[in-house]
Amino acid sequence: MKILSKPEYLEQLDSTRDQRIAWWREARFGMFVHIGLYSSLGRNEWAMAFENWPIEEYEKLADRFTVKEGSANAWAALAKESGMKYMVLTTRHHDGFSLWDSKANLYNSVNYGPKRDIVKEYVDACRTHGLGIGFYSSLMDWHHPDGGRAAYDSAARKRFQDYLYAINEELLTNYGKIDILWYDVPCPMEHHEGWNSLEMNQRLRAIQPHIIINDRCHLPEDFGTPEGHLTAEAKRDWEACMTFNGISWGYVDSAKAIPYSYNAQRIIKMLSTVSADGGNLLLNIGPAPDGSVPEEAIEPLKTVGQWLAKNGDATYGKLERVKYRFCNGVCSTSKKGHNLYVWNWIWPNDGEIILGGFTSRVKSVHYLDGGKPIAFEQRDWRIFLKNLATPDSIAGVAVIVVEFEKEIEHTPFPITPSLNNGQEFKEPTYG
Ligand code: GLC
Repeated sequence: MKILSKPEYLEQLDSTRDQRIAWWREARFGMFVHIGLYSSLGRNEWAMAFENWPIEEYEKLADRFTVKEGSANAWAALAKESGMKYMVLTTRHHDGFSLWDSKANLYNSVNYGPKRDIVKEYVDACRTHGLGIGFYSSLMDWHHPDGGRAAYDSAARKRFQDYLYAINEELLTNYGKIDILWYDVPCPMEHHEGWNSLEMNQRLRAIQPHIIINDRCHLPEDFGTPEGHLTAEAKRDWEACMTFNGISWGYVDSAKAIPYSYNAQRIIKMLSTVSADGGNLLLNIGPAPDGSVPEEAIEPLKTVGQWLAKNGDATYGKLERVKYRFCNGVCSTSKKGHNLYVWNWIWPNDGEIILGGFTSRVKSVHYLDGGKPIAFEQRDWRIFLKNLATPDSIAGVAVIVVEFEKEIEHTPFPITPSLNNGQEFKEPTYG
């Protein structure tokens, strides 16, 4: 196989990305699943490193790592019910333990612990529930003898690169069509050459030509991965990955995690941000070592799913980035063609929401859920939405659809009349 140079490879990616990533852009919302031997400790997925575990002692955690039958299906069923469209599973985390029947890495869930191929169960569950299939694959490895030595020993580095290619080749060869390859922590080497990422990814893409790959292999690949925050990447696709509690990706005791865990409103608010700014949300669950879904995630996620069943049009599909996300200061917005979706959480006591700066004519206004019309008036560069009562919508959040007659035009403050030091402004013609 001819390996392209970096410029040639990046150009090839640019020319094929829109077609490969279209489904993912419209999917918007995915479930991250962090489960591994570290789940048995219940104190963060970096415990082996942070607590300086001797390898042979850490390996014994496999005896407590059971992942009961049906666990992967439970994860996928919850993802589906939550309105998520794809999943990403930690097939092998930094501790080096593979969750599949690997010949390249015998330290795996068929030889230890559950004695089953969890990746296969996960792939089958994703397919049962019609979800996109993502594999998380750490580049760091605390179990492999060359994982650290690769930093300063070129023979060890070559062996480690061959090992990483072999395990990722197994993942992308043995489980049918895979949609996402999600690398993590390219440490210790600090450049793509150190990982041979350019060759590895071209070879892996030859196995799965439609796949999308994230940017954590020291190559930009297909999408950026802001972690723990929802900051848009201006010129490329991006996906914000978030824990459910701001504490750990891996399992922590549910009762102790509840005070820090998201509720449905916060998750919907995160979805409004990624919907406004052209990104995706990958929200994590860290199942217990027996595979069970963390209790604190279930009700909020199911509530979000019920909300999305009625309001999903504001987040799924071909959205365009909006410059006026904050809209009137408390609402958020997303945009699809001539429709502006106003996501609202704070309902005005006087029943009126005013949207400033829009200079295109409004055709109609209605609630997204149920379609009930909303009275409105448009004048002085302002749209007055009237007689609004706090809807009894799920999670107290509702979306108002402002349908414009043509392309939406907006002139942000401070150059609207009231804030422009009285400069002579004509009423817009609301073209
Ligand atoms: C960080 C953490 C890793 C976690 C990942 C998820 O890289 O080191 O443990 O899996 O974030 O994005």
